[in-house]
Amino acid sequence: MAIEIEHRDCVSIVTMNRPEALNAFNSGQMLALIDAFREVGTRIETRCIVLTGTGEKAFAAGADIREIVNLDVQSGTSFGRLGHTVTRTIEEVRQPVIAAVNGYALGGGCEVAIAADIRLASPNAVFAQPEVGLGIPPGWGGTQRLPRLVGPGMAAEMILTGRRVHAEEALRIGLVNAIHPLDQLLDASVELANSIAVNSPYAVRTAKQLMRLAFNEQSISGLQTEAERFGAAFGVADQHEGMTAFTDKRKATFENS
Ligand code: COA
Repeated sequence: MAIEIEHRDCVSIVTMNRPEALNAFNSGQMLALIDAFREVGTRIETRCIVLTGTGEKAFAAGADIREIVNLDVQSGTSFGRLGHTVTRTIEEVRQPVIAAVNGYALGGGCEVAIAADIRLASPNAVFAQPEVGLGIPPGWGGTQRLPRLVGPGMAAEMILTGRRVHAEEALRIGLVNAIHPLDQLLDASVELANSIAVNSPYAVRTAKQLMRLAFNEQSISGLQTEAERFGAAFGVADQHEGMTAFTDKRKATFENS
């Protein structure tokens, strides 16, 4: 199954389970993740949600490059909109969401992690927005949410270079709240979830909604523009070159100005 749900009393654990592709998101995986959040979002007993990836290597390695390499502007825009629905569903679900980042969180994987309310990481966690090296801008909210989280300068460095940020640096820049050994990450995340779950569900839910108000109208229009510009990138040759280079396991050469 692409997405697994486990309930530990009032904490629901959602696990992205596609280890053969390092939990990369194809459209089936994205739809299943949306469904999973809608399901736990309406489960009265669930007071906090933990989101993680299966295996010891990856939280999620981003959008499935093999699925999107040959998209055009129209299908690229649809794919980007689906990615936005994933991150918005996580962000807007009633209960707080803790991302337990157990390895690579790249591209859409990083964008999914930053749509959560809180991030905990294992020492092997690696965050990056490598999209510009694939000929596209980030397209699931990264250009809007990452600057809020780590500040505009650090976000610009991550997004424009695509460089990897390892767990210790992620902790230093506020991308994660704490680091736990890989074999203890899930339990630590559930423990944190339980310390939220003992509080008033009404007050927690309201506080979460109020914190989202800091995400103002300007950012919402930024997200809409990002979805459009992400799709437009599929009409530029750089996208095909960047993604074909990945599937061919070679270095990309970009020629568009
Ligand atoms: N889309 C599709 N397949 C992916 C993938 C992705 N985003 N990320 C990893 N995979 C697949 C690989 O193609 C490989 O499949 P294969 O065994 O059939 O060749 C498998 O997952 C294992 O990945 P591999 O690259 O062999 O592992 P690695 O340890 O050498 O490298 C990464 C791991 C995550 C650094 C590397 O896979 C990578 O850079 N992935 C792409 C990340 C990315 O750019 N994401 C943003 C997409 S917009």
